[in-house]
Amino acid sequence: MRLLLPHPRQLSPDDLHEIYSGQTSPCLRAGFVVALDGGISFAGSSRPLRTPTDEAAFHALRAVADAVVVGAGTVRAEGYGPVRPRPGGLVWRHAHGLPPVPPLVTVSRSLDLDPADRCFSGPSLVVTCASADRHRKSRLSAVTEVVVAGEDDVDLSAAVCALHERGFTRLLCEGGPQLLAALLQRGLVEELCLTLTPLLLGAAPHLLPTALTAPQQLELRHLIDGDGVLLARYAVTGA
Ligand SMILES: NC(=O)c1ccc[n+]([C@@H]2O[C@H](COP(=O)([O-])OP(=O)(O)OC[C@H]3O[C@@H](n4cnc5c(N)ncnc54)[C@H](OP(=O)(O)O)[C@@H]3O)[C@@H](O)[C@H]2O)c1
Repeated sequence: MRLLLPHPRQLSPDDLHEIYSGQTSPCLRAGFVVALDGGISFAGSSRPLRTPTDEAAFHALRAVADAVVVGAGTVRAEGYGPVRPRPGGLVWRHAHGLPPVPPLVTVSRSLDLDPADRCFSGPSLVVTCASADRHRKSRLSAVTEVVVAGEDDVDLSAAVCALHERGFTRLLCEGGPQLLAALLQRGLVEELCLTLTPLLLGAAPHLLPTALTAPQQLELRHLIDGDGVLLARYAVTGA
């Protein structure tokens, strides 16, 4: 693996912790794996886009986060489990005074989530809105903390504040596209970490499913090459 920009040098996968930990706090960053034509899944899964380089970045981003935030659509589509840091990530977290595992925070309007799902078998929270089904809310409350932010829809700014209040100030959002678009529209994303996989997917779902109200400007912070897979980290500098 080689850091190409800003200062070229060889990297080991464990160096990624140091590289990705250099972020301001509080900060919300989004991490995605993307094909070169912008596709983010094939046959409903991001699995065909994944490579060892992406796996290394995926786990390093998780290791330096206080909490991992994900939309319920991704939890359902990808069969999400609890966050399980790799040994290098556990060492890094311990050395930096972080608990071993960051919680998985699922954002859902409908609460169409199974309390028996394995995503609730580790540290977890669910963020929903006041109008969500009361029965579903009470069933989920038995297995996880359910945070209410907003009335008829999840108020994402309030949700981020609620996470900050719990001490989760470095947030990693792993998608999916609907949640990313909503966070970007509200100006809540400071960084975008993309794995650019050299694949073309054709008519596949894309990074952003809807038009933004204004183009978002990005500024490249680093570029890493791992066997032809590029890890690009951008600051979101605004509309
Ligand atoms: N390539 C990648 O890195 C990557 C990353 C993530 C996902 N994906 C792919 O993306 C696809 C899933 O896409 P998606 O757009 O459905 O995923 P998503 O954004 O994870 O999920 C959408 C769902 O999340 C909840 N949600 C999102 N934004 C919300 C908001 N502002 N307020 C309240 N609830 C909100 C809602 O859940 P409820 O329906 O429960 O109300 C909504 O239906 C899958 O095929 C997955 O493989 C790819």
